[in-house]
Amino acid sequence: MPANPALQSAKTLALRPQWRRTMLGCVRCPALVESRSRVVPGDGEIPADVVFVGLAPGRFGGDRTGIPFSGDRSGDLLRRMIRGADLQRVFITNVVRCNPRDACGRNRDPDAHEIANCRSHLEAELALARPRLVVALGRIAWRELAGHAAAFSPVDASPLRIGNRLLFPMYHPAYVIRGAYTERRYARDFKGLAKLLRTAIAD
Ligand code: URA
Repeated sequence: MPANPALQSAKTLALRPQWRRTMLGCVRCPALVESRSRVVPGDGEIPADVVFVGLAPGRFGGDRTGIPFSGDRSGDLLRRMIRGADLQRVFITNVVRCNPRDACGRNRDPDAHEIANCRSHLEAELALARPRLVVALGRIAWRELAGHAAAFSPVDASPLRIGNRLLFPMYHPAYVIRGAYTERRYARDFKGLAKLLRTAIAD
């Protein structure tokens, strides 16, 4: 999972031409076309065992590097946790592929229209990656993937089965960076995730 766009995963790059027209040229959200420096598609192994779905590229991270969860503190923490749990065949993406900013130029949450507009891009990535396990990082990603009725409760969570995939909730790394959850517990959750994945693959 390189942090340099020039080193983007070979398999992802090989598939890029198929995505280019729709994803990289997307102009569905006028505010995001204004705020983004670039469109940031998902990146990683294809096929993947596990896909992590965050919120949107950060202005100091993916919006600069072109790779989700890279170049900022959230990205550093997520990738450290993935390495620590020895997760292989990982693909990382977001519910929204452009950096949303408020009037002061700060990161903001994407709105419901922006999330809906980006849904087909997320579906396309999931169809390419064909993961056994999808991890929703944070409440917004969880709501988008699990639906509004499913409570977001990452502590001692059980996975939801959706078709032939498992969907699992975890805190967003920014929540841990804010100090709302300890890094130690987060690392333990990732170890639990790796165990769940091993079981899912063996099934
Ligand atoms: N970087 C991302 O790509 N997504 C997030 O949700 C946060 C930081």
